[in-house]
This record gives sequence, structure tokens and C-alpha cells, in this order.
Amino acid sequence: MARAGTMQWRSAHELRELFLTYFEGLGARRYRSFPLVPDDPTLLFTVAGMVPFKPYFLGLRAPEVARAVTAQKCIRTNDIENVGRTARHHTFFEMLGNFSFGDYFKKEVIPWAWKFLTEHIGFDEDRLYATIYLDDDEAHDFWRDLVGLPEDRIKRLGDDDNFWAAGPTGPCGPCSEIIYDQGPEFSCGRPDCGVGCDCDRYLEIWNLVFMQYSRDESGTLTPLPKKNIDTGLGIERLASVVQRVKGDFETDLFWPIITKACDISGVKYGDAENSDLAVRVISDHLRASAFMIADGVLPSNDGPGYVLRRLIRRSVRYGRLIGIDRPFLASLLPVVNEIMSDPYVELKEHGSAINQIISLEEERFGHTLSQGIELLENELNKLKSRSSAILSGEVAFLLYDTYGFPLELTEEISSEAGVEVVKEEFVREMERQRERARSSSKHSSAVMAKNIYTELADRLGATLFDGYEATSSDNSVIAAIIRGGQVVDSISSGDEAQIVLSRTPFYAERGGQVGDTGVISVGDAVFDVRDTIYLSGELIAHIGELAGGDIAVGMNVSAVVDAERRDAIRRHHTATHMLHEALCRVLGSHVRQAGSMVGPNFLRFDFNHFAPLQAEQILEAETMIYSQVLANLPVNTRVMSYAESRKSGVKALFEEKYGEVVRVLEIPGFSTELCGGTHVRATGDIGVVKIIKDESIGSGVRRINAIAGMASLDLFQSTTSALRSVSEILGVEADQFAAKIEELLEDKRALERRNQELSLRSVLDGIDSRVRNAVRVDGIALISDSFGAASRDLLRKIGDRIKQIEPLSVMLLAGVDDDGVTLIGMASDEAVKRGVHAGNLIKETSGLMGGSGGGKPAMGQGGSKNSSALKDILAKAEGIVRNQLEVAVKK
Ligand code: ALA
Repeated sequence: MARAGTMQWRSAHELRELFLTYFEGLGARRYRSFPLVPDDPTLLFTVAGMVPFKPYFLGLRAPEVARAVTAQKCIRTNDIENVGRTARHHTFFEMLGNFSFGDYFKKEVIPWAWKFLTEHIGFDEDRLYATIYLDDDEAHDFWRDLVGLPEDRIKRLGDDDNFWAAGPTGPCGPCSEIIYDQGPEFSCGRPDCGVGCDCDRYLEIWNLVFMQYSRDESGTLTPLPKKNIDTGLGIERLASVVQRVKGDFETDLFWPIITKACDISGVKYGDAENSDLAVRVISDHLRASAFMIADGVLPSNDGPGYVLRRLIRRSVRYGRLIGIDRPFLASLLPVVNEIMSDPYVELKEHGSAINQIISLEEERFGHTLSQGIELLENELNKLKSRSSAILSGEVAFLLYDTYGFPLELTEEISSEAGVEVVKEEFVREMERQRERARSSSKHSSAVMAKNIYTELADRLGATLFDGYEATSSDNSVIAAIIRGGQVVDSISSGDEAQIVLSRTPFYAERGGQVGDTGVISVGDAVFDVRDTIYLSGELIAHIGELAGGDIAVGMNVSAVVDAERRDAIRRHHTATHMLHEALCRVLGSHVRQAGSMVGPNFLRFDFNHFAPLQAEQILEAETMIYSQVLANLPVNTRVMSYAESRKSGVKALFEEKYGEVVRVLEIPGFSTELCGGTHVRATGDIGVVKIIKDESIGSGVRRINAIAGMASLDLFQSTTSALRSVSEILGVEADQFAAKIEELLEDKRALERRNQELSLRSVLDGIDSRVRNAVRVDGIALISDSFGAASRDLLRKIGDRIKQIEPLSVMLLAGVDDDGVTLIGMASDEAVKRGVHAGNLIKETSGLMGGSGGGKPAMGQGGSKNSSALKDILAKAEGIVRNQLEVAVKK
């Protein structure tokens, strides 16, 4: 029965294809890999093949098919430090998986997996084992009876090994793993080394998960509506066995990258553990980075973007460790593409973005890396001399804040020196910085009084917001009043307070849209609402001041929003959606919203993009938006389940949490996006959307300011009136401005030239007499003088002229203006021969004035910002030159 030795070499591509075809043959639908960043608020990345199918397992969505098979791109970040140190750890990897959604179960999957490994790949049956969950007798019996695996090769293990979950909550279940014995030469040698040991001998090849529970926050397991199968077979591992190499990095998935990295750095693989580690890390991180960017992740300071940043920065640092001190990552990308872009075409499609983004990040970090490392090494040396093994979190924060070192990088470098970083201090510094940023915000008092707010929210529940349609309401009741951080029953004229209503037409700041302003009134009591915010959860508060009368809890009031301001906000909000869509279309699909601020006078839109916008791109986006405005499309809002919205491909922000029921804003044929904000009824309401500013607010994140509606008209009117004034001054129409100004500038330049000539002439006119009256130092004429505001150029011309008149001369010429003193020193050939050194003359005199300068024997230049000592040094020239001549004679 055993098929020892029948395993033939196969490429990773062949293995992937064999797997997919095998399960297709068993009725599974083959899906392309889903993106690395999942639509799943509990996960930063897709960590396993099952992640995209979670809603099917949980019964939230009906599956399209009962059986599926994928080769899924995955990222795991829990063990980055171990990548490259072991033969098996990776950040990016591919998981081959087959899935049953309430269809086949243990009885089928166990023999299928066995058959694939032994018959299709040619694994030696005698080297295979199975592990099962402690009490899973069913799985045990299938292994024994259906596969024929001897009892002593079926091992029962506990939760750590044989119970699988993608995260603390969600679908999970007991599992069974197929283990391959690589042979005693791979063993760690410990006496208890056996199946379940972490070393490289007993390799876990394939995990079969019997997905049958859902775990909630309290840890309770509830059976899922149906029993499912989820399996995971890491292609890197499989390839390493099939290709008979020592570890994953030596398979055809990594080896060409490692070879190229060795070429670039000049290290030889196998020569030293450190350089081997470095090239392994680089090969792993570069693959991960390329794939992340292909799926829309850009370097940033949190979320997936932060992981990407860490990976690129780690790669740069490991490059330095093997002597590469110039940008090199991009030159490895063609190798990654060659290996992976078939079947992952996204690497090719986004090839240029991947290249640019990696290069940019590498370049940026490269600049500060050496300085940061120097600082850190100094600190580490200091610690060593004090025999301390603790690095303060403040240093780690400085490195983070100023040099762009991810905390983990500092920790890693420190730990190589046996030093630990005080993380709490780092976190505290980080908090302080956040606090500083926050202290100016209106929410700071909200933070302090948080407890009474949560209590109120618990007591009163959600405030009903009914302001999507209306901007006023007559049947709101005062539910609570807070004054000075205390809950009170009533307030009187002049009091600043926060008022909670039973229902309100006031929109509270959320999703970037600012809160409404307006008036709450009853009888002659008028409360001016300056802002509206969520106090806690869904509890809304109106912040403002009672302008007259008294207001008490329980009163029936009328609430009226400043409708004109709200209309202006609506325009900017819908404009934000249109801008988002237009930027995606003009700049590329990697554009993701990273934040926004929508107010009555302008909108601010932050998004991931790596370069400044070109003028044509701005025009294109504006024109695209305006044509949608002219089309006067209806702006529709629909309320649906979150799952439904995901299915219809609505744009959502992945860092945002959405409830079960969501509002979808749709501009038919142009944009659909989840949004709880308030919007116009039709695009024609918006008017012109104009981008007025584009700036970078961090690497890879750009910020656009734009205006719409009245604000656009204001800009248009003020610009035209400014142009009109200019037109009157210049006497030409706007289309002639450029030509006219060019002409004026040309006139100005001509005048300046003329002016220079005149001053030269007037100076030169007096030169002869200055030379004639010059002091003689051992017969050499010394002209040491200042010439008004003469430029360096003019001083040089004066010097040339003097040399013509007096072939035996040395001079110290000064010009003084607001910026300080310019000095030029010159000596004729003859003077130089006798030992005069104009450069040294300048060096000495500039130094005396607190400036700097120097040069050659015949010519020197210098100066100082401070002109107070000029007279003195002009007088000192004689002594200096005399000294030079004396020294020369002695020689
Ligand atoms: N989801 C299972 C794993 O990742 C197959 O191991």
C-alpha cells in the first residue's frame, strides 16, 4: 500500500492548480482569491481561507453554492519577529482550502484529503499521522476505518492544537490535522519530540476544521445552524516537502527573490546566519507589501497601512544590515511578479503603484534610518555602560515620532542587545500627544464628564433623530439637562448647558458631518444651540446657552434647526461622495477615504494616495463631478441590512463600524456609499464643486479642501472682482495677464541690469584715484575698502579692474546690505609670488567679524551677518598682509 518514493518534484503553481482542480472535480466552485483586507470589522487582514465565507458559516447569508475551493491570499501578523528565523513563519502566505457550507462533513473530507495527498501528490503513507480533538471519536473512527490509518498514528490533542477559530469570537470548531514526519534528521532531539512537537520534524500539513460552533464574547459556544467544513493547506509548506528542500524559503516561491537579494547585496546564502535571516525577511516582507498594495493598502500610521509600513521599514533595515544602503526593494519586484503574477494578475495591474509606493516609503525611511539607528545605538551603549537592560519608552517614542521607527522595530533592535523597552511609557507618551491634539477640541469636557453621560445613555436610551426629512419639530420633550458637568432639573437665562431631547431634528456630529445649530424654545425661553454632538452611544446633546426665560426637564419644546446652514452642509456632504467617486475614477481604485469633515462653508476629504494631484487630474475630477451635477440626478437613500449592502458592492470605510441596518446613499449610475449623513435631493442642488487645496498630511495620505454651492459662488465672485481690479491696474483683460506681467518683469530685469552697470561705472570712475592713494605694503598696493551695497559680482569686477591698473596689488573689498557683509579678496600674480594669500586674508577677516570664508592665494570670498566690525577689519588688512609677507620671507 505504501507509496514511498513516488513523490515527484512539482512547482508551487502545479500544486495550486492540482488542488483546485481536484476539489472542482468533487463539485466545488473555484473562487479567485478574495482581497487581503476583509469586509470584517473583527479582522485587520484575511488570516485564513475561511474568512470571506464567514457569513455563510454563521448563517447570516445564504451561500451561492454548497462547496467551494480557493487558493486564498492571507496575512498573519502575530509573529512578525519570527519570520525568517524559522523555516516556516510568514506574514503573507497562500492557503489552499476547500469548504462545505452545510454540505459534506467529516466522513467525506477525511478520505478526500488523504487521497489527495497520497495519490495525487505522492506522499509516503507511512510517514503520515492524524491528530484529532480529545473527544472526537467520530473523526477517530473515520481515520481508522475509512482511511485505514493504524491506531498508533492517530493522536488526540487539546484545545491548543485541535480546536480552531479565526478570532476570539465567530465560527469555530474542533479540527483534525494531517502531520508529515520529515524524519529524525529534522528533529529537535528532545526526548519527548513527537506528533504535536513544535520543531520541524512533524510538520502540520493540512488542517481540517469541523466548523460547527459560533463563539460569543463571553466564550459560550452555540451550535451553528449547519455543520460545515473549512480546511487549510499552506502551499509554502506543501511545496517544501514536494520539492524536498529544508524550509519554505528554499521553494520556488521564495528562492528567486532570495537569490536576487543576495546578488544585490553581495552576500552568499549559507555563509552566515545573520545575512541568511536578512534575505529571508526581505523576501517575505516584499511579497506581503506588494500584495497589500495591490489590494489597496497604503502605508499609514494605523490599521493595515501601519502593518505595511512596518514591513517595508523592516525590509529597509534588514537591507542595511547586509550592506545595502541605497533603495533596492523595487528592483526585487520584477522577481516577485515573475513568481506570483500568474495567477495573481493584480500584481501586474497595480505594478506601477506598487513600485512607486514601495520606493517612496523606502526613500522616506532611508533618510532617517541611519540617524535613528545611531541615536538608538548610543542609547543602548549608555545602558550597557550602566549595566541596565531597560530602554525608556520616551526614547522609543522619540524614535517613533521623529525618525519613523515603528515601536516594534525599536523593540526588535533593542532585544538584539538584550534590552527591553518600557512599553507603558511609550503608550503614555503617545497618549500625551493625543491629549495635546485633543485638548483644544470641544469634546474635552465630554471626555471628563464621561461617566454621567454613559449613565444618562443607559437611562434614556437612544435619542430619536428625525431630521433627515424635516428641520424642525414641535413635539420634543426635554429629557435631561447638564450644566457644569452635573445633571440638573432646570436652567435659567444666561446658563450654558447641554440639553437632551426625546427626539430631535438636529443632526449630531458624526461621520465627518458637523453638528447642527439652531434654536430650542418654549414660550419666551430661547436656547441657542451652538453645536450638536453624541454624548455617549446614541444619546444626542444640544450644546448652547439659554438666552432668556427658564427651561426645565419634562417641558414640551419646539426645536428648529438653522435650515440655511443645514442646506449648505447637505451640499457639501453630497459633494464629498461625488468627490470620492471622482477621485477613484481619476486616480485609481487604490483611493480610499481616510477621513472627512463636512461643514457649511467647505469640505475636507482625506484619502490614501501617494503623490500630489496634477493640475489636469484636479480639472478632470471637477469636470466629472460637474457633469453629474448638470445631469441633476436624484440622490436616493435606502435603508437595508449591512449584509445586503455588501452584496451589492456599496463603498464602505473599513475602519468604520456599521450597525445591522445601514443607510445607503445612491447617485444612480455614479456612486453608492454607506452613509448616515444628510444630503441634497438631487445633484443639481449642489452647484459647482471646486477643489481649492491639495496637500499631504502624512505619507501616503492627502487632504483636499473643496467647496460647493454658495461658497463656490462666493469664490467665483471674489475671484472675478479681484481679476477686474488687476485688469484695471494692468490695462488688459485677464487672458492677457500672463503676457503683460512677463513684459513688466522683463522691464524690471532690464532696469536692474542698467542700474548695475551704472553703479559699476560710478565706482570704477573713482577707482584710479583710490589705487593711486593706496597704502603700500613692501611696495604692494593694498586697497582695503567698502563699496556701498555692491554685490559679490560687482566686487569681483572692481577687483579685476584694480588688477589691470596696478599689477602689484592686493585687496579686501566689502559690500554691505541688510543681509550682512560680503567680502572679496584678490591678489595679483606678482603679489601672490611674493607670498600674499587672498584666501587666508578673507578667512581671517571674516572670522574676526564672526563669519566665515576662505579661498585660494589669488582669490577668496567670505562674509558675515554682522557688519559692526567692518571698519576695524578693513584697517587690520595691512597688518595681516604684512604678516603674510614676513612669513614668506622667512621660509
Ligand atoms: N481555517 C483553518 C486554518 O487556518 C483551516 O488552519
